[in-house]
Amino acid sequence: MGFWERRRVLVTGGASFIGSHLVDALVAQGAQVRVVDDLSSGRLSNIQAHLDARSIEFTQADLREPGVAREAMRDIQTVFHLAADHGGRGYVDTHQAGPATDFFLGGLIFWEARHAGVEKVVYASSGCVYPNYLQSDPNQELYLTEDMVKPPYDADNLYGYAKLMNELTLQAYCREYGMKGVSCRYFTVYGPRGRESHAVIAMIARAFVGENPFEVWGDGNQVRNWTYVDDIVRGTLLAAEKIDDGTAINLGTMERVRVIDAVRMVLEYTGHKAEIRLRPDMPTGPMNRVADNSLAKRLLGWEPQVAFKDGLKRTIDWYFATKDRDEVRRTLARALVER
Ligand SMILES: NC(=O)c1ccc[n+]([C@@H]2O[C@H](COP(=O)([O-])OP(=O)(O)OC[C@H]3O[C@@H](n4cnc5c(N)ncnc54)[C@H](O)[C@@H]3O)[C@@H](O)[C@H]2O)c1
Repeated sequence: MGFWERRRVLVTGGASFIGSHLVDALVAQGAQVRVVDDLSSGRLSNIQAHLDARSIEFTQADLREPGVAREAMRDIQTVFHLAADHGGRGYVDTHQAGPATDFFLGGLIFWEARHAGVEKVVYASSGCVYPNYLQSDPNQELYLTEDMVKPPYDADNLYGYAKLMNELTLQAYCREYGMKGVSCRYFTVYGPRGRESHAVIAMIARAFVGENPFEVWGDGNQVRNWTYVDDIVRGTLLAAEKIDDGTAINLGTMERVRVIDAVRMVLEYTGHKAEIRLRPDMPTGPMNRVADNSLAKRLLGWEPQVAFKDGLKRTIDWYFATKDRDEVRRTLARALVER
């Protein structure tokens, strides 16, 4: 019997981009999946096939409300905690109060998991826990290793601080309460079902509606390690299977891509010809953020399998096949800065 066969699993935020791909994988591997999501940024359409097939249990509710988290944990063996007040760069730079509630939500989920005797808690953390001061030089060949998250902390907005505090809380629970847990630090995830609030999907959306001049936030030299969602899901499941002690582990590719180069790849593949307009006045985030993934390789035997150019093509194909031009034209400006 496979590890996930008949395992009773809760995915908080399971209607989200990443959450719904995780749900797909868990259902495919025989898990009994419960999703609790308030649909504040998740979409029912992401899990509609499972709802139609009755292959998951779904509750629409805000996990911060009294009693919701406790009810969600009932009879659960593994919790994947992905629910978060989170958006792309345009959101996390300009909103602090909402993401700050992620700290209280994480605390509540871990507390209720312990109360319910849950076997394992898997936390969706982020590259945003890494100190900003390390990530300012785009010309430096920097790979962030897990041990770089230490005092003096300098996380990315209150969103990053909430992720950091939740990691530390989960670690303390493992150490002091004997709970089993792991935090997965996701780095700039992209793929089908992604949202325009995140850079790669924003670029694809601009090409889709024929934007000209084509806006690029920042000077284009920001370096990222965009990581394909299937790789993220595979790493998350392996982490859930293999790590117990609250360790925080990077899940990110080591492929370094500059924003301007990603834009050129999008323009080339979509065949959209446009003049590029740099917008250094818009939010950009750190100039140089790329993970070192050797710990995941060592502890999980995990390595990303999807090269950026391939994942990008798949994502563009999905976007062009499923979106409506008029609708994207109407909503894009808002989608870039909202959740
Ligand atoms: N997308 C990325 O590049 C990235 C990178 C690092 C970490 N993460 C983390 O991965 C997780 C999933 O992110 P995503 O990008 O797939 O989409 P997302 O940010 O839309 O996911 C959050 C999900 O949680 C739900 N939610 C939010 N608050 C809730 C609440 N109080 N109660 C119930 N449900 C609630 C939302 O409706 C949504 O479905 C989040 O925790 C996010 O912080 C994402």
